[in-house]
Amino acid sequence: MKQNEVQSVTQKIEALRREIDRHNHQYYVLNAPLVSDAEYDRMMNELAALEDAHPDLITPYSPTQRVGAAPLSAFGSVRHAVVMRSLGNAFEADDVAAFDRRNSEALQAAGLMPPGGQVEYMAELKFDGLAVSLRYERGLLVQAATRGDGQTGEDITANVRTVRSVPLRLQGDDIPEVLEVRGEMLMTHQDFERLNEQQRQRREKVFVNPRNAAAGSLRQLDPRITATRPLRFFAYGWGEIRLRQASGELDLFNQEAGDAAMPRDTHAGMLDWFASLGLPVNDLRRRVRGVEGLLAYYEEISAQRATLQFEIDGLVYKVDSLEAQSVLGYVARAPRYAVAHKFPAQEENTVVLDIDVQVGRTGALTPVARLKPVFVGGVTVTNATLHNEDEIRRKGIYIGDTVVVRRAGDVIPEIVASIAELRPADARPFHMPQSCPVCGSAVERLEDEAATRCTGGLFCAAQRKQSLTHAAGRKALDIEGLGEKLVDQLVESGRVKSLADLFTLNVLELAAYERMGQKSAENLVKAIDKARKPELGRLLFALGIRHVGETTARDLALHFGSIEAIMQADEEALLAVRDVGPVVAGSVVRFFGEPHNREIIQALQQAGVEPVAEAAPQGGALPLAGKTLVLTGTLPNWSRDEATRHIMAAGGKVSGSVSRKTAYVVAGEEAGSKLEKARTLGVTILDEDGLKALLAQE
Ligand code: IVH
Repeated sequence: MKQNEVQSVTQKIEALRREIDRHNHQYYVLNAPLVSDAEYDRMMNELAALEDAHPDLITPYSPTQRVGAAPLSAFGSVRHAVVMRSLGNAFEADDVAAFDRRNSEALQAAGLMPPGGQVEYMAELKFDGLAVSLRYERGLLVQAATRGDGQTGEDITANVRTVRSVPLRLQGDDIPEVLEVRGEMLMTHQDFERLNEQQRQRREKVFVNPRNAAAGSLRQLDPRITATRPLRFFAYGWGEIRLRQASGELDLFNQEAGDAAMPRDTHAGMLDWFASLGLPVNDLRRRVRGVEGLLAYYEEISAQRATLQFEIDGLVYKVDSLEAQSVLGYVARAPRYAVAHKFPAQEENTVVLDIDVQVGRTGALTPVARLKPVFVGGVTVTNATLHNEDEIRRKGIYIGDTVVVRRAGDVIPEIVASIAELRPADARPFHMPQSCPVCGSAVERLEDEAATRCTGGLFCAAQRKQSLTHAAGRKALDIEGLGEKLVDQLVESGRVKSLADLFTLNVLELAAYERMGQKSAENLVKAIDKARKPELGRLLFALGIRHVGETTARDLALHFGSIEAIMQADEEALLAVRDVGPVVAGSVVRFFGEPHNREIIQALQQAGVEPVAEAAPQGGALPLAGKTLVLTGTLPNWSRDEATRHIMAAGGKVSGSVSRKTAYVVAGEEAGSKLEKARTLGVTILDEDGLKALLAQE
């Protein structure tokens, strides 16, 4: 290749790299992309093709080199030119006040602040990731290291090169000869969840939290793996800095040696300078004054903590003036001019003492871990729900295990993971019981369902309150005056154990319950009496059989005509009913297969409950036979229940969602997305009058 050709290819390559770097910065650092992904890919492909054709022109800072170099056999070690220190902690407002007071006194004594003045601070987030030091020489990234013991860290240059928000080359004209940038590598919550999901699918190790995921990704010996991990970086400090002077001589600045001539004279100025060089600096940093300013910032960020994209474990306050910083100096391993104001920890380790099983109001069996009490997220946690059997398997939790417990904000405490390495020899796996721990009925777990359920239904004390409230409801037995509060009292006093017991209540005893008088007791007994002759469909619905809603109950009632016939029906017979599929049929058979439930039906009959069969509709003569309608919004005259009843009486069905099979959507005021959907699907829309007109047709 001729000299001028080489020159023009070199220029072309260099121009492309600059352009790609600029777009990288816009995308990964400023979050403000200027070009489409396709356009960006096109530039990358063009650059890669040119580099393929001219491999001798490839340099380590080319954006094509972020894919990850060949695996290492071990990390080398790096001695930090300036030690990487840690921070002292403040936990309470008082600790922060003491920090501010010490600074104030020292700076007044040094004549850097007038009496009564307020110290200026840079307040920042304390990122919960991994501290790293990036070394740029003449603007190029030449080395990256972990903190290690502060003196010596591990050389992770090959891995850090793959992190898109870390510039391989600094921007601008103000490029220092040497710049060691310190900051935190981390992973966002969203990226962490996504990574774990991927790991799960590949049956690989899942990470306990974003910090471990970031650490694990950076400490990979194979940089090609790191390249696939979504790491981020934020700069918050520096180590060695050497500026190139106009004369061309080097000027070494070492803050610790008391050299006050820095490129900027405040911490805030330094961070702005970093940003101007293309380094990522977090936007939530703030200059504040005095302890009031610090605490106000603490309040503000605490309130936002749950909504941040990444984990923070506190805030860091730094005296802003670099001159003041060097006057304040260091004590042991930490600077006096800075402090970490820690949030209460959101994660702690503890031990699973046992796993109990609770039965919820709907009969779902929920395993609950009994924990060795642990203070986390500001409260003492002794229990954590494990949701279901699969969850326990997925997290690999054994009784006796040490686990990570998390409580973030007001969220219910949860077990994040089990630490398998700490499992004692006598740890044992958990098994779901075969029978309900409350009532002894068989439990079942249906295919496609995560929950294991008690089949005890009305017989199970755990489910009694909910079943009774449901049975008394307007769409079921419609017993007016039997509200939740009274049901609670009746069940808790032991007076009502099953639906049948309701029909044995008398005025005298009812009047004795809280918030009940003679009159309300009389009314209630009347209402109960009226419920002795329910329509069969309502009684069926009242029984609370899983998957048997109001409409299905009515269909079953119409088809079979008596409770005995339904109790005797097998799955095949049930499948013959309109709209009944295997899920409903199976559920009905299981319900009546349970002896407790059959006993309750018997007891109901003994208490004088006699359902009346509904008149079967007259075949095709009904105006809405075989049609499905959807109600949305508020109708001017009819309540939703009334409209439903009219539609059902006319042979129609009411469904909760609009599809192509919907015959009509009846829309009232403030109709929402269902109306929209009806319009998109071209389903006929009616108002209340329209519905009435339809019902009047013969
Ligand atoms: S300044 C000389 N600023 O906290 C002081 N540290 O315990 C050097 N950290 O190892 C640290 N966010 O990993 C500083 N905005 C921030 C920080 C921060 C997180 C970490 C860092 C360090 C630890 C100090």
